Amino acid sequence: MPGATTSPASGLSNLFAPYLETVCHRTAEALTACGYRALVVHSGSLLPVFEDDRTYPFEVNAPFKVWTPLAEPDCFVYFQPGQRPILVFSQPRDYWYKPPAPPEDYWTEYFDIRTCPDRESARALLPPDLGGTAYLGEPFAELGSWGVMAHNPARLIRHLDFGRAVKSPYELTCLREASRLGARGHMAAQRAFAAGESEFAIELAFLAACGLREQELPYNPIIALNEGGSVLHYQVLEKRAPAARHSLLIDAGAEFGGYASDITRTYSAGDGDFSALIARMDTLQQALCTGIRAGADWREVHLRAHRLTAEVLQEAQIVTCSADEALDAGVTRVFLPHGIGHLLGLEVHDAGGLMRSPEGGDIPRPEGHPHLRLTRVLTEGFVVTMEPGIYFIDPLLEAARADQRASLINWSRVASLRKFGGIRIEDDLAVTATGCENLTREAFRSEQPGN
Ligand code: GLY
Ligand code: MN
Ligand code: MN
Repeated sequence: MPGATTSPASGLSNLFAPYLETVCHRTAEALTACGYRALVVHSGSLLPVFEDDRTYPFEVNAPFKVWTPLAEPDCFVYFQPGQRPILVFSQPRDYWYKPPAPPEDYWTEYFDIRTCPDRESARALLPPDLGGTAYLGEPFAELGSWGVMAHNPARLIRHLDFGRAVKSPYELTCLREASRLGARGHMAAQRAFAAGESEFAIELAFLAACGLREQELPYNPIIALNEGGSVLHYQVLEKRAPAARHSLLIDAGAEFGGYASDITRTYSAGDGDFSALIARMDTLQQALCTGIRAGADWREVHLRAHRLTAEVLQEAQIVTCSADEALDAGVTRVFLPHGIGHLLGLEVHDAGGLMRSPEGGDIPRPEGHPHLRLTRVLTEGFVVTMEPGIYFIDPLLEAARADQRASLINWSRVASLRKFGGIRIEDDLAVTATGCENLTREAFRSEQPGN
């Protein structure tokens, strides 16, 4: 894999032990609070394709990734407070597929590893009495006979997910590496765009530079030329380059050790006016990043993003009214319909973004902002995305045109910008006591030739 020579694996072994200690401590507290004696977590099973002997690409369950970066199906972690965690490693005796080699990585010395040939025989490698044990993962045929006390108890999951928001030095190292791989992919994608390639070819350039296949990414890349950028999670990947090239919006991240990066850049093919709008959005994005530190309320960050967006809309003459009027009339939500960011970690939209406490209750989203995924006050160690945008989205524009917002929008300006689709600029930020570390900008810097 490209980058293997500079991989942080040696540093990871020193960081993993204290990380695992934190996980054990957090899990022990959660088990006690919820009345369980132990936990068993499933990595997930291969999902067969209907009427075929193939399976869908495997996705490892995030609660399993909490314990180990091992990404193999039908493995289990068993944890009882005070004892070394057990890893049941599934190594099928197969000649159609290559069985996975027993793990030998930096994290293995902290587990009691027991190998079995299939899921059916995993049970015998776990303690005989699983009464008092909570099970996390999808149910499977034999699970009924395992004798566990509860399947996916919501209260326990909540306790565990709440704590996941704060990242340890080990996790931050993985996240930095995921950002570095992602930045490398983005730089290759930018070159492919400049060379006039199709969306599909740009994705191939991204994958090759990251050294990852699509199923190893934390999400399917959003690679949108021209007006495709107006579709927030655009998925088409046209195989032919369009006749005219105006813009590229690429939202793509990489994964390392189970941790994700989530990065968006927007490029103009040459139009100076659109380039200036991208530069203006970059300034806005950086202004928002400056406001991030422990103690910041993410709902306020989101609302501030709308205020700053209103100013850009007014300056760029996309609205005919003042920034205040645009904000008050809800016009910014026509151009920025998604949340300003979310927690990032083992999942790209990481768990627990709305939780008030481990015990229960969500922090409501600001009225009129139903897509915000994070409402918590930031704590040191949170990793969040910062992803402002402006898009020209036909259904939202049509709805605005049909009501009192119509007179506030400069429709001829919108018509001339539609072909660019939209702009999103997204970085990943690790929150500190006094500010934040911008993992993405640092990754782009470190990947520059000569660094
Ligand atoms: N890539 C999806 C997102 O930015 O949230
Ligand atoms: Mn994101
Ligand atoms: Mn993204």
